Amino acid sequence: MEETSVHEIDFTLINEFFTELERQGPGSAQESIRALGFINHLTSNAKIADLGCGTGYQTFVLAQNTEASITALDLSTSSIDKLNKKAVHLGLQNRVKGIVGSMDSLPFQKEEFDLIWSEGAIANIGFEKGLNYWKDFLKKDAYIAITYESWFTQERPMEIEKWWKDAVPEINTIGHNVSIMQKTGYIPVATFILPETCWTDHYFVPQKARQVEFLKKHAGNKTAEDMIAFLRREEDLYAKYKQYYGYVFYIGKKL
Ligand SMILES: C[S@@+](CC[C@H](N)C(=O)[O-])C[C@H]1O[C@@H](n2cnc3c(N)ncnc32)[C@H](O)[C@@H]1O
Repeated sequence: MEETSVHEIDFTLINEFFTELERQGPGSAQESIRALGFINHLTSNAKIADLGCGTGYQTFVLAQNTEASITALDLSTSSIDKLNKKAVHLGLQNRVKGIVGSMDSLPFQKEEFDLIWSEGAIANIGFEKGLNYWKDFLKKDAYIAITYESWFTQERPMEIEKWWKDAVPEINTIGHNVSIMQKTGYIPVATFILPETCWTDHYFVPQKARQVEFLKKHAGNKTAEDMIAFLRREEDLYAKYKQYYGYVFYIGKKL
């Protein structure tokens, strides 16, 4: 049987599924705070952009652990609506603003930001392209902190190689990605692998009940059923091959 490719998944459906969850990708507050620990000077004058923010789980971690103002950007209108409502609810609306937009066409000034943050989203425009394009929006000596799917080993079993090459054709090893960072004009400050719990406890487990409810709502809808089958396969493959890949935090400083 032919497997569904990530590129065949309907954006509206995936968006409907994920906006009801706290996170839309692997990660955790603890690991975002760990990455923040490598970055200096995020005082009340500092500006952060969070690109591909989803409903803003990590945006609020940044808001609660720095004094900076944060602009959070995502293609999904429903995610941004949710983020802005949460900002009001938490009394952070003066420092956190969500805007709808695409991360490859940013509505910002050159050298506007002290930090560009992006968890689980840069693959949508490409690692090298994103690093190159986003650099212009950073001040000199400002930071970038992103998580990105990466290989841990030089060789991988064919099944998992094929899956990831389809999802993220540019996927590569940590060493290669660090060299891309260097090539695109950043000093590599730190890299670390997100622990397994970022995938299991914070990504796969919260999906379980949502998948059941979603299938009930979309009963008989083949596109929705294929999408849930894809997400379940993603979890099975992770359990089988997690020693070969994962998300890596890449932290760099603009030269
Ligand atoms: C895997 S989710 C990660 C969301 C969030 N950062 C997190 O870690 O929970 C990827 C996000 O990127 C957004 N996205 C995809 N393509 C985009 C683009 N071209 N510009 C802005 N956001 C985009 C999606 O709408 C989605 O919210």
